[in-house]
Amino acid sequence: MARMIARIGVVIALMALALAGASPQAGQTFDQAQALAELRGAIAGKADKPAVEVFKNIRQYKGVAAGRLLRIMEFGFNRSLGVDCTHCHVAGQWELDDKPTKQIAREMSAMVATINSEHLKKIPNLKSTNPSVNCTTCHRGQTRPALELPDPPPVKPAEVNR
Ligand code: HEC
Ligand code: HEC
Repeated sequence: MARMIARIGVVIALMALALAGASPQAGQTFDQAQALAELRGAIAGKADKPAVEVFKNIRQYKGVAAGRLLRIMEFGFNRSLGVDCTHCHVAGQWELDDKPTKQIAREMSAMVATINSEHLKKIPNLKSTNPSVNCTTCHRGQTRPALELPDPPPVKPAEVNR
């Protein structure tokens, strides 16, 4: 009996910790490394299960493993767009769809899938066996993909005189 009460105590303490982590105080700066560490802790033992079973609001990456979903967030999304998690999420409230950028990311992901599975497949004589694009192909560290190349670097006088 005492053991059971102790166990319940531990569970309550863990839940309190999880809740504290899930609702950072306003004005607190976002710590991405800590957020990712907390999420990895929360999915410990379930990282290989489909994201749709582990997380609360997965519509696009349903079959992707939960651990891999976090890597897509960190590298596929953050790095490709040059943003942190809060560009698309309220930190800690990961399942909410309150930022339009989150839904845009879902649509972008569907667009990428169509480009890869349909459009690129129709182009004959490409060099790659599996030609593909991803978020980085267009975004290259920016939220707004460039339409023009940056100005060429100014030519150094020494090079002009050579
Ligand atoms: C460019 C937008 C974008 C960025 C940046 C982003 N996410 Fe996401 N995130 C999404 C989308 C879209 C989904 C929902 C995927 C789906 O529907 O399959 C999602 C889902 C999640 C989920 C699952 C929540 C649930 O319970 O349903 C977690 C956890 C998460 N993101 C964490 C992060 C973390 C941590 C970062 C930063 C390292 C991050 N995200 C950066 C767009 C983003
Ligand atoms: C074929 C090029 C292309 C690819 C590939 C692409 N995007 Fe985009 N993305 C765009 C364009 C164009 C915009 C619109 C920019 C603007 O508002 O003018 C955009 C805008 C966005 C925005 C809104 C940015 C903001 O802050 O307003 C998000 C979020 C986004 N893309 C996420 C993604 C993600 C995630 C991927 C990979 C799954 C991806 N994109 C792949 C071209 C692309």
